[in-house]
Amino acid sequence: MNIDGQAWRTIWLEADGRSVGVIDQTLLPHCFTTRTLTTCHAAAEAIQTMVVRGAPLIGVTGAYGLMLALQVDASDEALATAFDQLNATRPTAVNLRWALERVRQRVLPLPASERAAAAREEAALIAEEDVAMCASIGDHGLGLLQTLARARSPQRQEQPLHVLTHCNAGWLATVDWGTALAPIYKAHRAGLNIHVWVDETRPRNQGASLTAYELGREGVPHTVIVDNAGGHLMQHGQVDAVIVGTDRTTRRGDVCNKIGTYLKALAAHDNDVPFYVALPASTIDWAIGDGVAEIPIEARAAAEVTHIQGRDPAGAVNSVQLTPDGSDGFNPAFDVTPARLVTALITDRGVAPASEQALKGLYVDA
Ligand code: MRU
Repeated sequence: MNIDGQAWRTIWLEADGRSVGVIDQTLLPHCFTTRTLTTCHAAAEAIQTMVVRGAPLIGVTGAYGLMLALQVDASDEALATAFDQLNATRPTAVNLRWALERVRQRVLPLPASERAAAAREEAALIAEEDVAMCASIGDHGLGLLQTLARARSPQRQEQPLHVLTHCNAGWLATVDWGTALAPIYKAHRAGLNIHVWVDETRPRNQGASLTAYELGREGVPHTVIVDNAGGHLMQHGQVDAVIVGTDRTTRRGDVCNKIGTYLKALAAHDNDVPFYVALPASTIDWAIGDGVAEIPIEARAAAEVTHIQGRDPAGAVNSVQLTPDGSDGFNPAFDVTPARLVTALITDRGVAPASEQALKGLYVDA
């Protein structure tokens, strides 16, 4: 996608063929910088500290992390250690384990001398597949948005189609295109009059910082709102659809996404606003049925709740304290929206109800 007219992806193999480049997302939107990862430890740290984030992107970073480890030591023991180190960084997004498993299965049967090259190939393949899946989600979602726009009352036809999104499920969360934002980019490029309500997404503000940044760079009209405004806007007919991403989707269609998504789904349900979840195949955890009971929810540092980062008037990016000294914070990073609140899933293979039968129908080969 575009930054100041230049096409970027979030992750790439550097020209030396051995190290990995990423966009540092911790300083966006105020500062655009890239980092080069040269060790497995650096890849794990980049995932943990959210230099890279978003379920598909942490999967690809994990895959490249295994390559970085195998370039140093390609023994079975080193592979197992690197796998565990990377897998422990963030527990909720299933894409990480899925991508690590893919690389492990690819390299395990090979002699040590061939493992690093095979891991490089597999990581690149996972990245390319992610781009293709997200582009496909965009195409399927575009059809849905066009249908929604046409179905509005004659008085609403002149208005933009208002879509609300939570967190960042755009190209910064994937390799390119994004999941929830891919249909929006495709719709905007196809000339649909579209406007996005961007939830700020406390505590880390991925909406205010990253989604607003992406949409702005692509020229998509958008407005940042506080997380608590969505229900009010829905009550007043200001939201035509909600589209969010997911970090783990159970085989029954429960979706686990950034904390606060569930409340948006409840408000959408109460106001007859369609609630869509966009996802690539890599986000489906076929081993899990009940998302609330079975998906591990990452608890992050309380400091993300008690403090907030922004740019001060002098232009420096700083963190300030919001809460009184001595007040504790609790920071569950994700919540689960049960399938019954999801109008439909927008997948790389088409739009389908959030149900086991529909998912199995789409992914018969899974
Ligand atoms: O904690 P983050 O920023 O990694 O959370 C990201 C999300 O919740 C996204 O919505 C999710 O990964 C789906 S992205 C394509």
